[in-house]
Amino acid sequence: MNDDPDESAVRPGEVAVALPSSTDAGVYFIGTIRTPWRVREECPKRGEPDGPVCSIVVDERWREALTDIARHRRVQVLYWMHHARRDLVLQTPFRTGQTTGTFALRSPVRPNPVASSVVDLLAVEGTTLRVRGLDCLDGTPLIDLKPERTHP
Ligand SMILES: C[S@@+](CC[C@H](N)C(=O)[O-])C[C@H]1O[C@@H](n2cnc3c(N)ncnc32)[C@H](O)[C@@H]1O
Repeated sequence: MNDDPDESAVRPGEVAVALPSSTDAGVYFIGTIRTPWRVREECPKRGEPDGPVCSIVVDERWREALTDIARHRRVQVLYWMHHARRDLVLQTPFRTGQTTGTFALRSPVRPNPVASSVVDLLAVEGTTLRVRGLDCLDGTPLIDLKPERTHP
């Protein structure tokens, strides 16, 4: 989904390709992320540990899957950038003006718009997690949670 009115616009140097005619797999959205940001321009480019407290609201169906999550201080969050276009192979970020391959960027614009952040887990209240360190729009779909990888 892309609600951007100039969805087909490209910046200098950007290249779009035709997307495949069908997808190869499906994902389940498992919840919704609540943040203070309503438009992309307001979002930080990258979540910070001193950013605002955000809420990850996990769907009731997955309640048991949260068992023991509170033991972890830091959690990796995977989310679906539902307003990003998916067809650019070369992008020219506004910030740098430098044309770069999609897979060399952390832009939300990518064939599968999966984003990832490691957040500080502040509290677990039922199926809602209070966290700091996110950078997505209010209403962004949640696709997975896993403890931060720790080295032995
Ligand atoms: C640069 S991405 C980084 C995401 C994640 N931390 C990562 O590294 O995978 C963050 C930017 O994506 C954009 N964005 C946030 N939520 C989005 C959404 N639901 N759909 C499309 N773009 C979004 C905003 O412009 C935000 O500043």
